[in-house]
Amino acid sequence: MRTWWKEAVGYQIYPRSFKDSNNDGIGDINGIREKLGYLKELGIDFIWITPIYASPNFDNGYDISDYCAISSDFGTMEEFKELVNEAKRLEIKIIMDLVINHTSNQHNWFEKSRQKDPNYRDFYIWHEPVNGKEPNDWQSIFGGSVWTYDKVREEYYFHTFAKEQPDLNWDSPAMKNKIVEMIEWWANQGIDGFRIDAISHIKKEKWDQPNNDPKRPFKAFQNVEGIGEYLTELNTIFKKHNLMTVGEASGVTAEEAEVWVGKDGYFNMIFEFEHTGLWRTANDEQPFKQFKEALVRWQEACANDKGWNALYMENHDLPRSISVYGDDSSVYRTISGKALAMAFMLLQGTPFIYQGQEIGMTNTTFDSIDEVNATDTIYMYHQLITNGYSETQALEQISAVTRDNARTPMQWDGSEFAGFSETKPWLKVNQNKGSVNVKLEQEDANSIFNFYKQLIQLRKNHPVFVSGEFRYVETEAEPVFHYERRNEQEQYAIVVNLSKEEQAFVSLDELTDNKLVLSNYLDYDFSKLRPFEARLYKLS
Ligand code: NOJ
Repeated sequence: MRTWWKEAVGYQIYPRSFKDSNNDGIGDINGIREKLGYLKELGIDFIWITPIYASPNFDNGYDISDYCAISSDFGTMEEFKELVNEAKRLEIKIIMDLVINHTSNQHNWFEKSRQKDPNYRDFYIWHEPVNGKEPNDWQSIFGGSVWTYDKVREEYYFHTFAKEQPDLNWDSPAMKNKIVEMIEWWANQGIDGFRIDAISHIKKEKWDQPNNDPKRPFKAFQNVEGIGEYLTELNTIFKKHNLMTVGEASGVTAEEAEVWVGKDGYFNMIFEFEHTGLWRTANDEQPFKQFKEALVRWQEACANDKGWNALYMENHDLPRSISVYGDDSSVYRTISGKALAMAFMLLQGTPFIYQGQEIGMTNTTFDSIDEVNATDTIYMYHQLITNGYSETQALEQISAVTRDNARTPMQWDGSEFAGFSETKPWLKVNQNKGSVNVKLEQEDANSIFNFYKQLIQLRKNHPVFVSGEFRYVETEAEPVFHYERRNEQEQYAIVVNLSKEEQAFVSLDELTDNKLVLSNYLDYDFSKLRPFEARLYKLS
């Protein structure tokens, strides 16, 4: 079935780091509005904006203290409405972030709940101490126990993430009603859909269950059996308002794709974690085989209208893909950035490009823990120090993996603060701003930016890339990702060398009889695939 979001290309904006219009060092709503023209030029159809609601910012907006208020860091409701109007004029749709697994501990619901206000007392998950201690030994995703003792209520409350992010109680009808009200309020603000945060965590196991499987450390509160009941209820609200939905669904496997994103699924799409869960740092051996297998599993699980994929290589929680899977040295940055682009943009599904990915932004180095902002990284750093690492070793370790790599300010030009702001930004600017920025990328016909533009146009002009069948082609060379897209009118082959080593590639001879439509090398060599070489052939 044809729907707008299957044909669309999305772009994720992390507002704090996108564009600062009032020079206070923090990106804002007017900054997004200013750059809509840029996104239009790239070919973007919708933007997903990560949380801009009132928040004490313990987890940069993923700890909401008022769902219906805009944080003053980002602007006002008036400015948001102007953004919506301007986006409509440019035919760019807006997807908001819906964070309903937890709130901030500064939300007034939490305040009332800890005071045992009868209307709010069960809005969160409370438990009396067991033998004077936490009810169990489960560990939270950001580290430490999932339980924190509240002196006012004299009970423990549950948190999947940090203690500043208490989990909502999805068994409370009153709480659910409030969430539904809030969703409907936002639907009436002219938005087109939601990315739904941490949604696979809303159901928990019984408290006496063990949670010590090292392969699935959060199993007891991740995609737990019975979660479907809550999700089905939510789905009726989304449908009623014709909202597009993409759920963040860690722990959901390809076998469950149809239940989650099929015709009667909970969401239109989900962000699955199987391929990014394999993410390694640049120095480790790359798991090419498993990486391809994970992508192929999801392609096949969603084939024949059984579901629909959300395609992504980056987001605000992951280090930059070129630094991990490609090569961020000046020799291969552009080539590997294009290879990764071709590998994922032509799969079946809706692509989500993360800000800066389209210009090949890379990881940075953090020279002191004071330069780091991400809560989980700071926790990890202190753990490493406790475990005997030197400061230098600990910094090296966290620099490679921290999600702050994705959050450094967007590099618009080569000026002191990269054209993001005229003031020192909230997070350091990557030192490579002089050679990696939008201005240079726009000027260079062979840039990553222009390659993305071409891939987007291919998707728009050739329906085969949207609805055509996906066919995986086995290769002997593990680092080579070879697949085809086919419909009755057209057939294409995509061949990408994901590695820095040359690959002999047996099918090349056959393929060279076909028309080469796009490639990331300017000259052509029939005999092999060079480092990170990517080719798109139209099959005759
Ligand atoms: C997933 C979000 O993407 C991440 O940034 C956040 O820290 C957690 N959920 C908690 O909301």
